[in-house]
Amino acid sequence: MSLSAADIPDVPTLQAIGNRRSIRYFDPDRRVEDWKIQTMLQAGRLASCQGNINATQAIVVDKETSDLWDEIEECVSGFNVQIINQSSHLVFWLTNLNAWYGRANDGLSSLALSGALTKYHGWNYDFTMTQTVPRLMSFPTERTENLLRFETGQAVAQAMLAGTSLGVGSILIAFGRKPGGIEKAFGLPSNYRFTWGHAIGYALEDAKAGGQRPRMKFEKLFFKDDHNTPLMPDPAVDAALKEKGMIQEQAPLAGRFEEIEQLAERFSRDPGVVSWPAREIERLMKDDDWDFGPNIRKRAEQVLAEGDLPDYPEEMKETFKKLMEEHGLDTKKYLGE
Ligand SMILES: Cc1cc2nc3c(=O)[nH]c(=O)nc-3n(C[C@H](O)[C@H](O)[C@H](O)COP(=O)(O)O)c2cc1C
Repeated sequence: MSLSAADIPDVPTLQAIGNRRSIRYFDPDRRVEDWKIQTMLQAGRLASCQGNINATQAIVVDKETSDLWDEIEECVSGFNVQIINQSSHLVFWLTNLNAWYGRANDGLSSLALSGALTKYHGWNYDFTMTQTVPRLMSFPTERTENLLRFETGQAVAQAMLAGTSLGVGSILIAFGRKPGGIEKAFGLPSNYRFTWGHAIGYALEDAKAGGQRPRMKFEKLFFKDDHNTPLMPDPAVDAALKEKGMIQEQAPLAGRFEEIEQLAERFSRDPGVVSWPAREIERLMKDDDWDFGPNIRKRAEQVLAEGDLPDYPEEMKETFKKLMEEHGLDTKKYLGE
């Protein structure tokens, strides 16, 4: 194909971070172009990886050409079935544990040849061969798995952001219905881990997907010098990030619920959203850990005013309490008085 650099949109990184949403409604009639998928995979390939061992791989599945589609569909969690069937492609991100045991030596050598590993930082061939590499290679697979899955996550995040920059929607999807089913469908050798599924396509919902989803407050997540001192965000920085499009208007944007109704009607799906009990919503809105802006507060008030909300299943409260207590959590905070 002929693609020139001028055909590729220029979206600044911070803007792409702000634009990214998990897209749950894809246009079933639009295919993502091969060059865009290639660009997303290149973004994954170029993500930082320990010792340059290249443990992350991916299988791109096109339902038009795949013989495994039915088997794949049987494995995906129920709430993701509609998503995968309307997506353009699925990307199965894999982590190859043997990259650690097999490629540590060559990965480091490639870094030395690249001028990245130098004597300045204390790298020394004898020490690397007699200490560093054998120590890394003797890690139990469980430890290696933790390390490598983290970097697969990095690769996926970069691929998703590259997709966002090209107008391609992404969502990560769980395949929890049939544990081990994806590994079996692809016949993966035992040194491979299926790390996550990723659906891509063109959004049928507005690209803003109803607005940026709320997060916990910055200072509840980040700390200064120790783990007790909140790191306070500078309002002037946040204001500048808003101007740059990184921090965007919080969900739900005006018209979001009408949009959901229209999409449901078009595909003969159940309309509406799921609601939580009134006291749960009231408790959540009072929780000072969350960064809730006016849109979500207004929505909560509206939902409470409309009523007809479900009751809390009391028997589940006991179960949640027990599970939380096992982890030493303050159950009053999460379950109320
Ligand atoms: C590892 C991972 C797995 C996820 N799995 C699912 C999933 O199975 N189904 C789904 O609808 N969303 C899934 N999500 C999307 C999150 O629910 C979503 O990121 C969250 O709602 C915040 O929205 P945002 O991504 O638009 O900011 C997953 C996200 C991550 C990071």
